[in-house]
Amino acid sequence: RPHILSGMQPTSDSLHLGNYLGAQINWVRMQEGFTPYFCVVDLHALTVSPDPALLRERSYATAAQYLAGGVDPARSAVFVQSHVREHAELAWVLNCITGFGEAGRMTQFKDKAGKRGNDNTSVGLFTYPILMAADILLYDAQYVPVGEDQRQHLELTRNLAQRFNSRFGETFVVPEPYIPEGTARVMSLQDPTKKMSKSDENANASINMLDETKKNTKKIKSAVTDLDNLVAFDVENKPGIANLLRIHSAISGESIETLVERFAGENRYGALKTEVAEVVASVQGPFRERYLEFMADRGELDRILADGAARAREIAAPTLARAYDAVGLVPAT
Ligand code: TYM
Repeated sequence: RPHILSGMQPTSDSLHLGNYLGAQINWVRMQEGFTPYFCVVDLHALTVSPDPALLRERSYATAAQYLAGGVDPARSAVFVQSHVREHAELAWVLNCITGFGEAGRMTQFKDKAGKRGNDNTSVGLFTYPILMAADILLYDAQYVPVGEDQRQHLELTRNLAQRFNSRFGETFVVPEPYIPEGTARVMSLQDPTKKMSKSDENANASINMLDETKKNTKKIKSAVTDLDNLVAFDVENKPGIANLLRIHSAISGESIETLVERFAGENRYGALKTEVAEVVASVQGPFRERYLEFMADRGELDRILADGAARAREIAAPTLARAYDAVGLVPAT
């Protein structure tokens, strides 16, 4: 069974619909046929100096949301990144084969650093994608299920794996991104030319998986669309409607063509929105309830995370040992 690895940052209280449809839905599906590793990347969250108590709480909350969304700890190793120290150790080795310019070309870094300014930009934010490469390479992951915004980081990971292998001998599996079209980029409800994002200041732009369904229904009904009121799938000219159709289709399983046919005719935007809201509520309501159950039993959550970390270490430790050996570090006896 090929391995897969993915992770999310514990930098918000709730996952949004983009995290859920862009990544998590595929994690859950891939539990059939793959050996999955899913980590809460708490070390990555440190790059933006979170409040310590909030970081800890959000790390638990993120793990609970993995489970609430259908990640099954019997089949998947669910763990916290900092519990497996090999992540930080391999990241150091990879730091030393990454070019400064190469890291500087990462567009997510440039965006974030641009917004934060030099003095608030940590070196950790700069090397963030290299830690991400370590996350992936430690597990011999063949596929990495993520949203479109991670594609460039995956490209860097592949380059580092290939560079390491050619310089030091076959050590790492070269991973491939797994980014199915459709919901690879769920868009903001308020500006459908921008992706849905945790950091959006406009609270109406995102559907939070942990909000009351009523609140989300309201947001979907006030989603920005266009003026001609004819439902069609046209990403260029009708990005708001295209986003709603994609969301519906990803959850309901109905094809976009069928939806467009069903909502043909004048003035059906309201009807489409009502149905999208129902479809979203059908997954989001139960998600929220399961989340509350998992959060109510910290002992059980700790047990799941400890078990996940133990399973993760079983593969991470030998991979790191292989890499240390390959670069010529003296074996610890
Ligand atoms: P993060 O925490 O920002 O996002 C988690 C996942 O959600 C996806 N995503 C989206 N997909 C579709 N539409 C959107 N609007 C949208 N917004 C977010 C992201 O692509 C991601 O899959 N660097 C990663 C975390 C990470 C990681 C890893 C991922 C660290 N190490 C190793 C995979 C493998 C990140 O910041 O994701």
